[in-house]
Amino acid sequence: MKSEEIHKGKDQQKIIEVIQLFKAFAGKQVLDGFDLDLYDGECLVVIGKSGSGKTVMIRCLVGLMTGESGKVSILGKSIPDLNQKELDELRMHIGFLFQGSALYDSMSVRENMEFPLRRLRKMFSGKEAVEQLIREVLGSVGLEQAIDLMPAELSGGMKRRIALARTLILRPQIIFYDEPTTGLDPITAREIIHLIGEVQKKYKTSSLIITHDLNIAKLISDRVVILAEGKNYAEGTYEDLKAANDSVIKAFFLSH
Ligand SMILES: Nc1ncnc2c1ncn2[C@@H]1O[C@H](COP(=O)(O)OP(=O)(O)OP(=O)(O)O)[C@@H](O)[C@H]1O
Ligand SMILES: [Mg+2]
Repeated sequence: MKSEEIHKGKDQQKIIEVIQLFKAFAGKQVLDGFDLDLYDGECLVVIGKSGSGKTVMIRCLVGLMTGESGKVSILGKSIPDLNQKELDELRMHIGFLFQGSALYDSMSVRENMEFPLRRLRKMFSGKEAVEQLIREVLGSVGLEQAIDLMPAELSGGMKRRIALARTLILRPQIIFYDEPTTGLDPITAREIIHLIGEVQKKYKTSSLIITHDLNIAKLISDRVVILAEGKNYAEGTYEDLKAANDSVIKAFFLSH
């Protein structure tokens, strides 16, 4: 089922549109006419094998890389046409949880949480309001009690939660997740997946998640896109794709 069919009749706006994106490195065509839509309020999971170009795609989306050709637009803005100032402004509406999701090891959880606010000189609202904001987002990931800890004192799952809370502090409209469950044990991974779903509902964000973890698609996605051969190879709900009779798609569902 195509995204237009899933969204037909719903009053949802397209907030990301990628049309025929091409990106090559040293003659190797990584994205070969890739298309993608993300609708407001949607949780979209992009599944692809290692090296299929998922990270490259997300880097093109946020303007860290530019394709040779193709349309990339977010919140109505054409990314390749933005200057640095305009990109920075747009990025204020986007949260990132990138592979590794590094916290600053030399800073406490509180200082890590303050960091995005300081960077944008948004500490103006006063100490108490900032403290309240930090406690609220930490509370929404279930870790208010960790506020004074150092990253070294946190487990991998806790670090991931804190990193998610840190993206929430700027109230993003869209959150990009690059492999949010990699390196976590299955139980912790599942907790993080559910948390991503809860956060999306609570903060009314849209989520674009790139992963090889099909559990994310199964548990919280509204729609799944398979990135293969540099293209949007197939898209639909998890159930649609699971039922598909195509060897490339089936390969992803072998253990599901
Ligand atoms: N800056 C770069 N310079 C040259 N080649 C690159 C660069 N970035 C990515 N590539 C190549 O593009 C291809 C896709 O890489 P990408 O990181 O997007 O894969 P991925 O789908 O995110 O994989 P993984 O699941 O392992 O994270 C790879 O062959 C990689 O070597
Ligand atoms: Mg990657």
